[in-house]
Amino acid sequence: MVGVGQLGSYVASDIIAMIDATRDVVVLADGQVAVLRPEEVEFFDAAGNPVQPAITHIDWDVDTAEKGGYPDFMLKEIHEQPRVIRDTLAGRLEGGSISIDELDMSAEELHLVDRVYIIACGTSYHAGLIAKNLIEAWARIPCEVEVASEFRYRDPIITPTTLVVAVSQSGETADTLAAIRDARVKGAKVFGITNVVGSPVARESDGVIYTKANKEIAVASTKSFLGQVVSLTLLALLLGQSHGTLTTGQIKLLFSELADTAEQVERILADDTAIRKAAHACVNATSALFIGRGMGSAISYEGALKLKEISYLHAEAYAAGEMKHGPIALIDEGFPVIAIATRGPVYDKVVSNLQESRARGALIVAIATEGDEEIKRHADHVIYIPKVRDAFSPITASVPLQMFARCIALERGCDVDQPRNLAKSVTVE
Ligand code: AGP
Repeated sequence: MVGVGQLGSYVASDIIAMIDATRDVVVLADGQVAVLRPEEVEFFDAAGNPVQPAITHIDWDVDTAEKGGYPDFMLKEIHEQPRVIRDTLAGRLEGGSISIDELDMSAEELHLVDRVYIIACGTSYHAGLIAKNLIEAWARIPCEVEVASEFRYRDPIITPTTLVVAVSQSGETADTLAAIRDARVKGAKVFGITNVVGSPVARESDGVIYTKANKEIAVASTKSFLGQVVSLTLLALLLGQSHGTLTTGQIKLLFSELADTAEQVERILADDTAIRKAAHACVNATSALFIGRGMGSAISYEGALKLKEISYLHAEAYAAGEMKHGPIALIDEGFPVIAIATRGPVYDKVVSNLQESRARGALIVAIATEGDEEIKRHADHVIYIPKVRDAFSPITASVPLQMFARCIALERGCDVDQPRNLAKSVTVE
């Protein structure tokens, strides 16, 4: 990118490298050329024709790129999550209606949407799994979630009324970009959800929501994941509104409860004692199983990914109802089973899965709802989180799982910000 400043022009691969010098940057498109001279900068397309690309003003602080007193970026970014929730929701409810102008779709076009595909990779894919539940429940539109590397090589059913939602923190994941291009060629409207202003995903989508997480430095996504979940929740509300499946009263209530999660996450962050104890109990394990049902199943995938990527401890996630179909064979004395056991429609089912695991010697860590005393009978460690509507449980339940993974990784002597073999942006296939 090219920085355009008062005292000169700059070129760098990342905004952070030049943010002390300028906050006005141009993100070069593929094939574009910039010629920098002390007094001016000129831009050309690949054929040599002069072009005037848009200048983006960066409004986040230099502080964002520093640890701000935290021992590592991951912890700093985990603690930024309440702010991310608030910023992502700011200005989105106007007079009882959800407003996402950047979507660039008329109410009529939105009303016609009859199929949604969410395409993404890694953690962003897990945000999509959560959103599928919300879109189908609130808008009654079929929604499929697919990893971009599969989507791009399939022949998915796309019509002009299909909405493709591409989710990418970096906005430059090669597979997600290829899937966007493919979907647009096939006639879908593509909506990007990304954290990086001017990124390829933003540029190549028909509309974009920025997740307001600001620069995320730790390789393991935390705050950008929550920003994605909140943005996708807004999209689900918007689709419910456009399809007439949610009333204004319901939208207001859901939005207000969604906004309350910022404070609930703050409460979780205020005391990590139970999380540290549970993590310590699992630190010498060689493998761990994350289970949940419904929303809990989507959350468990993210919990397992977080643990494996920063602690190098093998972790797998399973919809708890699948335990009897294979994974229960893994359980023996002391095998960690981390269960999303919050109070919700499938609570009793999860408890019975815990009983089955415990009977075989599993060490149970339960993420449970404050006030639930019964769960203590079924778990060795209970991490309580505030009571929220089931639809919003991914926002609160994913936070202790991030902290749990970080504690284990630190105890195992791992670098939580720069795990081995991983890159923050996966720009090659
Ligand atoms: C998340 O912790 C990982 N670093 C990784 O799975 C990541 O989510 C994935 O590579 C997708 O990246 P993106 O969101 O930038 O497209």
